[in-house]
This record gives sequence, C-alpha cells and structure tokens, in this order.
Amino acid sequence: MNLILLGPPGAGKGTQARRLEDTRGLVQLSTGDMLRAMVAEGGPLGQQAKEIMAAGKLMPDELMVSMIAERISKPDVKNGFILDGFPRTVAQAEALDKMLEEKGLKLDHVIEMRVVDDVLVERITGRYTCAKCGKGYHDSFEKPKVEGVCDVCGSTEFKRRADDNAETVTTRLAQYHQQTAPILPYYQGRGVLKAVDGMADIDEVTKEIEAVLAS
Ligand code: AP5
Ligand code: MG
Repeated sequence: MNLILLGPPGAGKGTQARRLEDTRGLVQLSTGDMLRAMVAEGGPLGQQAKEIMAAGKLMPDELMVSMIAERISKPDVKNGFILDGFPRTVAQAEALDKMLEEKGLKLDHVIEMRVVDDVLVERITGRYTCAKCGKGYHDSFEKPKVEGVCDVCGSTEFKRRADDNAETVTTRLAQYHQQTAPILPYYQGRGVLKAVDGMADIDEVTKEIEAVLAS
C-alpha cells in the first residue's frame, strides 16, 4: 500500500507515519528528515537547506523531486511507502505522478490531516526528540514516563528542531496555505483524497487513518 500523509506543519504526519511503519511494515519517506540529514552532513547543499528551512521557506522543486525519485527506487519501498512532507507543491505532485507511472506504482490513499493553525503553533513549539534514538515528545501532550529520561532508550539528552520557533512556524504555515493546500483539489479530482480529524488525540487519529486504509 502506498500513501501520502498531507497536512500543515505539526499536523502529526511524522507521528502517524512512524506508527504505520511499526504496524504495517510501510516505509516512511520524510523529505524533512532527509533534508535534516543533508544539513548534518554539511557541504554547500546542506548549507542552502539549513538556511531555507530555518526561514520556513520551501526548497526548490527539482531538488525535492530528484531526492524522492532516488529514494523511491530503493528496494525497501516495494512493500509500500508513506510519503510525509512530499509533495508540497502542485509541481511536485505532478512529478510524483509521472515517477510512479514510470515505475508501475500506484497511489492508494492521500490522507489530509486537518488541524487549525493555533493548535499547530502550540504543538510545534512544544515538540522535542530524544537525541539518541529520535523518539518524539511534547512538553504538554507526550511527556516521557520518567521526567528527563527517554522511554525507549533511557537517554537523558533531548533536542529541538531549529525551525520549531514561533516566528518560523508562522512562515511555515503561510507556505502551507499558499503552496501546499492547492494540492488538495488536485487529489480530490482523482478520487483518492480522504480527510481525518487531526485535532483528535493521537490514538484516535491512528484509528481514523486505519479506517481509511481499510476502506
Ligand atoms: P518537515 O520536516 O516535513 O516539517 P513540517 O511539514 O513542517 O511538519 P512537521 O514535521 O513540523 O510536523 P508533523 O506533521 O510531522 O507533526 P509531528 O508528528 O511531528 O519539513 C521541514 C522543512 O523542510 C520545511 O519547512 C521545508 O523548508 C523543507 N521541506 C521538506 N519537505 C519539502 C518539500 N517536499 N519541498 C520543499 N521543501 C521541503 O507532530 C508535531 C507535535 O505534535 C509532536 O510533538 C507530537 O507529539 C504532537 N502531536 C502529533 N499529533 C498530535 C495529536 N493528535 N494531538 C496532540 N499532539 C499531537
Ligand atoms: Mg514531521
């Protein structure tokens, strides 16, 4: 099964994609994670990505399309994938269609995760992850069981994303409404779009997504 989780920053795409990886054996393809890995490696492209992401703007379409084209060619995506953060523009959606057609792959579901902007700001500014294993947490909504200790690996070191501040979030939300939301009618017209209530609690959202996948 191949699907796209589509939604504004902080909608819960990463949270739900990781759950689907565990329960359904699908591979999460997160362009944000790929870009952060590129930034960590350094080099001129990494430096460009660092600046654009810190400003909350979008990376150029050609770069993102070639990044996904390369990733989608790897053997592990054969059992199914979850796109998280891609496509983000109509041009990227069109390029994805072409790419999938060439590879004989089909898109089964596009799931829109709906959350209002005010809630997104609260979610993003409170988010952090374990520096060792990457498990995600939130200051209010998802705290470790023992304060300051990762539930999964026991590490006591945590980190926050450079773009998770109130100022950058405003730009990221504006980019979503201007550049990414126009993808919704594109997929609606193709009959693959379904929406879930991303405002519900995390387990409830998972159930709603499972219901879409079973439909
Ligand atoms: P990216 O990494 O994709 O970030 P994003 O789209 O802004 O989304 P986030 O990762 O912030 O949110 P999420 O939906 O994954 O939410 P999460 O599950 O963490 O992109 C970063 C940047 O890279 C972009 O700004 C751009 O510059 C660049 N980029 C990436 N892809 C690109 C592309 N294709 N083209 C061009 N540029 C690109 O949840 C958020 C928090 O809320 C967590 O703390 C979580 O615990 C909590 N939470 C989740 N669900 C719930 C719930 N139901 N109730 C309560 N809390 C919840
Ligand atoms: Mg994410």
